Amino acid sequence: MIRPYLRRAKALKNILLDHNYDSRRYFIHSQSGRSLLNPQQLQGRLLQKAHSIEKGLSMPEPRDFFGLKALRELEGLIRQYEQRGLDENHISIRKARGVIGAYFERHEGLEIPEEIARFRPLAKGLTTVPGIGTVELTRAGQAAAAAGDLESVMRSRRSTRIFAPGDVSSEDIQAAVSLAGTTPSVCNRQSARVYSVRDPELKEKMLALQGGSRGFGHHIDTLLVVTSDMSNFRDGRERNQGFVDGGMFAMSLLLALHHRGLGTCPLNWSADRTKNEKLISLLSLPKTDLIIMMIGVGQLPEEFHVAASPRREISDLLIELPA
Ligand SMILES: Cc1cc2nc3c(=O)[nH]c(=O)nc-3n(C[C@H](O)[C@H](O)[C@H](O)COP(=O)(O)O)c2cc1C
Repeated sequence: MIRPYLRRAKALKNILLDHNYDSRRYFIHSQSGRSLLNPQQLQGRLLQKAHSIEKGLSMPEPRDFFGLKALRELEGLIRQYEQRGLDENHISIRKARGVIGAYFERHEGLEIPEEIARFRPLAKGLTTVPGIGTVELTRAGQAAAAAGDLESVMRSRRSTRIFAPGDVSSEDIQAAVSLAGTTPSVCNRQSARVYSVRDPELKEKMLALQGGSRGFGHHIDTLLVVTSDMSNFRDGRERNQGFVDGGMFAMSLLLALHHRGLGTCPLNWSADRTKNEKLISLLSLPKTDLIIMMIGVGQLPEEFHVAASPRREISDLLIELPA
């Protein structure tokens, strides 16, 4: 009689121990609350901060001299990087300097306020560096690349923050979700779910909670929420499986939407418990759903630009262990 309770208690104990283990590892190795970062953390932070300028440049109508706070933070990070004599060829520092160059290029011809002008030397004379800042694209070019082979589809997918007016059809969404349904999942449990929202008021509330689409969210036609149904998972050992399966599904969905010629922007769901509960209640999501991310979808304009988002070198990505 007592055995089922013992089994549940043991399962709870393991979940708590595993979460505790994850939390400790995360706290020790991530940037959480640190002011002195190790080189890898510093490179990660540089990429992130430079992206906020790059993202600003990719907006439909960037405000003149936007991003003063981000520039200040970037300056602090670049100084830390220089003081430690770290590799000037690393993509993180090249991107940081290049993005500052692109920022000044964008403001060429305007009278630059003093508080902004002082960041110019950080670019080290860089202005337009190919692959840093923004990239100009066309709807026709994207359509051709997205219809091509896998390499062409993957290399041409871009986070789009400029959308043309025009509805995204539910046929397109259904076809893309169906294609994303081919994504492998643990034991083929297929825990991923997609909620599709077109109602303007609801989208606005969702995006206000999400927080990462300022300056372009109002142009998103269809807002998707990718979730993973936790009822598919067994015990503490599978505690992260929903994020793995749901994340993989979301990637497939981005590619499938791109393949249909639509513009997409993945939108993070880095939410604390309060925000998470707010979205659950706003959408009346089942309590079993783990929210993975949102995806903004819309039609592509004839001509537009996107953040260049240069990638790390292959040597950062691939570590071939000795035989
Ligand atoms: C999980 C995830 C969350 C993201 N969240 C946001 C977001 O909140 N707002 C945004 O503008 N872009 C967001 N992005 C887009 C990234 O900035 C973008 O993928 C990255 O800079 C690489 O550019 P690319 O997608 O054009 O290749 C997110 C991307 C991912 C994968």
